[in-house]
Amino acid sequence: MNVVIVGSGIAGLTAALHAHEAGHRVRIVTKGALGDGSTGFAQGGVAGVYGPRDSAQRHAIDTVNAGAGLSDAAAVDVLVHEGSTRIAELIARGVAFDRSPDGELMLGREAAHSHARIVHAGGDATGAAISQALVAAVRRTTIEVVEQAFLVDLLVRGGAVHGIRMLIDGQASDAEADAVILATGGAGHLYSHTTNPVGTTGDGIAAALRAGAAVADMEFVQFHPTILASEPAFLVSEAVRGEGATLIDDEGRRFAFDSHPDGELAPRDVVSRAIARQAARQGSPVRLDATMLGGDRLASRFPTIDRVTRERGYDWSREPIPVTPAAHYLMGGIATDLDGRTSLARLFAVGETARTGVHGANRLASNSLLEGAVFGARVAAALDSPSLRYEFASPQSVSSDTDPHRNEDASRFTRAALQQLMWEQVGLLRTDDGLGHALGIVRTWRAAASEPVTVAEHEDANLLLLAETTASAALTRTVSVGAHHIETSELERV
Ligand code: SIN
Repeated sequence: MNVVIVGSGIAGLTAALHAHEAGHRVRIVTKGALGDGSTGFAQGGVAGVYGPRDSAQRHAIDTVNAGAGLSDAAAVDVLVHEGSTRIAELIARGVAFDRSPDGELMLGREAAHSHARIVHAGGDATGAAISQALVAAVRRTTIEVVEQAFLVDLLVRGGAVHGIRMLIDGQASDAEADAVILATGGAGHLYSHTTNPVGTTGDGIAAALRAGAAVADMEFVQFHPTILASEPAFLVSEAVRGEGATLIDDEGRRFAFDSHPDGELAPRDVVSRAIARQAARQGSPVRLDATMLGGDRLASRFPTIDRVTRERGYDWSREPIPVTPAAHYLMGGIATDLDGRTSLARLFAVGETARTGVHGANRLASNSLLEGAVFGARVAAALDSPSLRYEFASPQSVSSDTDPHRNEDASRFTRAALQQLMWEQVGLLRTDDGLGHALGIVRTWRAAASEPVTVAEHEDANLLLLAETTASAALTRTVSVGAHHIETSELERV
């Protein structure tokens, strides 16, 4: 079978390798160079179950608790039970996870995990190690790779996907396929502050929406708590807090316990909100104090963070560093079953692009690389029955032109204006009024937009579509849960 896979992070590369090994003819289409994307930036690691004191059941409980109870139980079950096999496969493909002198995998701790279970590589360079190994594995095969190719749209006939339209060097080009797998990552560039690399503009999810595929949970956007408060955004891994670093206010007080008994190791949504509120109260960023870990430990366990913080003028072994939340991960996406099938025949989705239901309302740390590996393998196995569809019960939809939300006072559209609007009104702390205001402006911008021609214009159109879907989904969910938080009083806002 001819398979086109769009995207080349852990999910896309895993799907490609498995599909190739199963005898399919695979073509990877990717926006930048092979392996570009969010995977290479992942620091913390991959959650796995090792040792007699941990269990898949405990990992499942942690995943569901972090997800505020909204995770899909069957999807979580798949994730936690198939995780170890996929981690073993990554090792076999050449990923050198860090090991102790006696050869055992070293296990890190991250927030909301009841157990130290995060395997990591190069200290804090796990994503880069995985990306390099999978790219090398693909390069050793006959898998065709089309780089610098932008996904414009899915080709759909009779309710089934039969290929994609791309833009390569400004020219439209179609690729026919018996099945298309979307693995295009999330949409962090909806926001003015994000950990996601340039180009994370939700192209796959937007194309799927235009083609009529069901999407879900778009209101659940995860904001990572600790990004170094200097531009460009740089992630300071949750593993640093897992090793014992603390969050302090301008008087040196650990404030995270005011919000949750687990303090700095509470679920990410809780810690991010606590940080945002404290920063607003004190009028300056809060600080992450890792000095107790000592210079040698910081440099050996977190070499990337150590280098970058020093390049930015901070010696984190001697002084606490300023941190702030930033958009990090989209829990929602194209609705899929446990094998990556979408509501459109011959269209599959995997990784951050997909909404498997694993993450519920808030993803547990280090479950994202795991999801890419686990479901990447499963989607390849499902290619044998490409015509089956996933009948998803409650999809979110794009609005119709007759929708009342419009704001004629909207200033001229720019991507920066959209990102600022989303940051302020559809971000970490939301209000009904703010969401309605944002939705009105986004709809006005969409209505005024002309047909996209260039890659940047297509990206803008995708961001606008996803902004509308996100704001509209957030307005529909009237009760705060997980990463979707509606502030109900002025008091809460301070
Ligand atoms: C981190 O290292 O804090 C990020 C890991 C993740 O997003 O799961």
